Amino acid sequence: MASVAASDLLRTDHRQIEMALDRLLATVKHPGEGIVLQVRDIFAEIQRLMGPHVRKEENVFYPYFQAAFSELLAEMDEQHEYIAEVTAGMGELTGMAGKGLTERQVLELIRLSMELFDAIQHHIVDEEDQLLRLADQHLSVVEQDCLATKMQRLEVGSRPIGTAGLGDCAKGGATC
Ligand SMILES: [Fe+2]
Ligand SMILES: [Fe+2]
Repeated sequence: MASVAASDLLRTDHRQIEMALDRLLATVKHPGEGIVLQVRDIFAEIQRLMGPHVRKEENVFYPYFQAAFSELLAEMDEQHEYIAEVTAGMGELTGMAGKGLTERQVLELIRLSMELFDAIQHHIVDEEDQLLRLADQHLSVVEQDCLATKMQRLEVGSRPIGTAGLGDCAKGGATC
């Protein structure tokens, strides 16, 4: 059994992601020598945090609410897609960081960093104000625990990604 509610697990991830995002914003707001490598390293940290977090949401948490809150989930999915687009652009530029970037590419990297900050921060606020609030209102302690356990298993990679497995709770066709 998980010792923390599923929605709180996601909130804890959000706080860690926000710390890395704050570092990214502070770095590009005061660009100095070595900015490209600094941004590359902070971006790598953001990816390290966002990868498992998005997998938890898209493979466990979101499917559980799909039937009940389909419009909200479509909005959350769209925001994830936008974040993925900006992330891809950042990945392309930071991948060239070792070889050195042109002045124009550095400016683009700064622009994309700010865009990534805004996109993720905006998504976190929407997710917490809407989806996680609804989750807290509608999920029982057993459901919160069940979803948390499934997300934790996903995190350590001890179970294949999927929405079936434990079978303890089911809602709208999605099982936990
Ligand atoms: Fe999300
Ligand atoms: Fe999230």
